[in-house]
Amino acid sequence: MRKLLLVPTVTAVLAAAASCAPEPVEEASPIRIVASDLELMMGIIVPNAAVVWDSVGTIVDETGQNDFQPETDEEWEEVADRALGLAESANLLLIPERSQGRQVGIATAVMMRDRAIRASETALLRDAAAFLDSVGLLYESCVACHEEDLVEGTGF
Ligand code: HEC
Repeated sequence: MRKLLLVPTVTAVLAAAASCAPEPVEEASPIRIVASDLELMMGIIVPNAAVVWDSVGTIVDETGQNDFQPETDEEWEEVADRALGLAESANLLLIPERSQGRQVGIATAVMMRDRAIRASETALLRDAAAFLDSVGLLYESCVACHEEDLVEGTGF
């Protein structure tokens, strides 16, 4: 009985040893750019941003100034998830083949990622004031990249 139990252990040790073998030199990245910058914006970033932007703010109408924010757990969780979606999208902007070493693009995408993480965290804390603040900062990171040279149509 004891002997039988030893067999898998030996196999496991061998497997572990095999996985320590030196990696083959410089494997090509499996990442492949699929969407253009504009398609990435319209397909992933804008739909997530729209939910975040529309979730918090102030409406001024004939009844006066009305602040709104996510109310239910589901609403807070949804915006937290959407903000995380934006954080991961910023990583897509940072793929070297896409960012092409352009410093402003890299800096503003890092800014977008970190501010989106902050927005997600404040949403999970249900801290409406901090969330509103972080959403404003997140929006600024979008503008910071766009203002660089979108007009020229040369990407970031
Ligand atoms: C690192 C740079 C960068 C960041 C950060 C960025 N964008 Fe973009 N954005 C681009 C580029 C590049 C384009 C497309 C340029 C083109 O090909 O027309 C674009 C295009 C857009 C467009 C379409 C504009 C148009 O006139 O057609 C929208 C909308 C947009 N982005 C929204 C956002 C939002 C919302 C955020 C932030 C959550 C964001 N972007 C963050 C680089 C960026």
